[in-house]
Amino acid sequence: MEHPDSILIVDFGSQVTQLIARRVREAGVYSEIAPFQSAAAAFARMQPKGIVLSGGPASVLDEGSPRIPQAILDSGLPILGICYGQQALTQQLGGRVEKGVGGEFGEAFVEIDQACALFDGLWTSGERHQVWMSHGDHVAQLAPGFRPVASSKGAPFAIIADDARRIYAMQFHPEVVHTPDGAKLIANFARHVCGLAGDWSMAEFRAAKIAEIRAQVGEGRVICGLSGGVDSAVAAVLIHEAIGEQLTCVFVDHGLMRAGEADQVVGLFRGHYNIPLVHVNAETLFLSGLAGVTDPEAKRKFIGKTFIDVFEEEARKIGGAQFLAQGTLYPDVIESVSFTGGPSVTIKSHHNVGGLPERMNMQLVEPLRELFKDEVRALGRELGLPDIFVGRHPFPGPGLAIRIPGEVSKERCDILRKADAIYLEEIRNAGLYDAIWQAFAVLLPVRTVGVMGDARTYDSVLALRAVTSVDGMTAQAFQFPGDFLPRVATRIINEVKGVNRVTYDYTSKPPGTIEWE
Ligand code: XMP
Repeated sequence: MEHPDSILIVDFGSQVTQLIARRVREAGVYSEIAPFQSAAAAFARMQPKGIVLSGGPASVLDEGSPRIPQAILDSGLPILGICYGQQALTQQLGGRVEKGVGGEFGEAFVEIDQACALFDGLWTSGERHQVWMSHGDHVAQLAPGFRPVASSKGAPFAIIADDARRIYAMQFHPEVVHTPDGAKLIANFARHVCGLAGDWSMAEFRAAKIAEIRAQVGEGRVICGLSGGVDSAVAAVLIHEAIGEQLTCVFVDHGLMRAGEADQVVGLFRGHYNIPLVHVNAETLFLSGLAGVTDPEAKRKFIGKTFIDVFEEEARKIGGAQFLAQGTLYPDVIESVSFTGGPSVTIKSHHNVGGLPERMNMQLVEPLRELFKDEVRALGRELGLPDIFVGRHPFPGPGLAIRIPGEVSKERCDILRKADAIYLEEIRNAGLYDAIWQAFAVLLPVRTVGVMGDARTYDSVLALRAVTSVDGMTAQAFQFPGDFLPRVATRIINEVKGVNRVTYDYTSKPPGTIEWE
């Protein structure tokens, strides 16, 4: 399904290109990302109403650096160039780019010198606004037709405009949250410059994805791994809507779920949706393999690999499946955001991506790959998944194993499950569940001395964590009302054997991560 009103985002390799797509969609305009190598073909197919050129790690001054397809420059369509996109535009349209000394990285301020269509209802001349910069090179001489609109300390041409051709470009990154007005600048481009109505919705995304899945899969058979979480459930329901009985779901129950979750998944899929489901109880396999494993990455890798092994076996049993569906989200694909253009460091191996061995002779179907969590929830609601399921806090693929630092055992999983259930029950009772991005307990490999009745105890410490976040990439500790945490701590210590001390984790992300491992 092609969209009559769309924006094409040409990706020059920036780590945050997906955020541009998100901002454009937030403005109610359908967008697709195409790598610069295939942008000309995507442009011909999509016939978009506007183009955004992303940032990227290359330098336009280097031989063989990525270029904007000529068809796009000749199209007469509105163009927004960001960072590398600005430099590529300048160079290809006859201006000059220079290597900077040191560059500009992080928070910066732009002085608004002139009015511009991007600023409608937002910025006016003489103002100063915070933006996020990350560049080495900069524009030294404007291409013919351009005028300077805003400047910063390190970038005299922080924003430039060619009103006649409707080409706008900026040195900073409007797509990241550190440019507080960035989303509005992008919305102004989409609506005011490209003249799009901004009425695109999740209903259309659903229809487009269904068409895409059908085209990819044809008559083939698909196996979908359910993890128990929202993402794989939404992916499965969407795929089922697209191809019906060609889909079989496999729920690899690794025994590392929260209390009652496995039953809920089985009930929902078999009972509510009547989607063919194979429920594999692999608790023993996972727990025996985790015995003696304490390194977080080793746990993640083992769980990811074992998940795939079990999967392969089930796939063989089912027979004839050429496709493997997964609920991979954008934050699973990129977990560390590097604004410097350098290679991103692996902070954690996410089991949906990192653990997938090349040897799996199946093609991937990942319909949620470009979505953020809140978008997946909106899609889930659109598909009619129950609110209690869709609104669930995110849960990591490796499950409780990464919430038990040190060695994982059935006994420790059971202790954690009980404590976690009490914590979540109290959060729900207090009406705080939806105000929190994610809340969970972590069972520490530390024992401390306590006193209960007249007896000495020597039991485990439990940490409680709750964070607010927009997309899981940054997070802040949630501030509970005064008596909440003491009440939960008392309940847990009284009701959960094996825990005699409860602490609360106040760390933000960064520098911490949300999960402890
Ligand atoms: P971190 O701990 O990296 O987590 O700050 C960010 C978000 O991702 C979730 N998470 C995972 N999700 N597979 C997943 O599907 C994984 O391996 C995984 N590890 C972390 C985490 O719960 C948080 O929402």
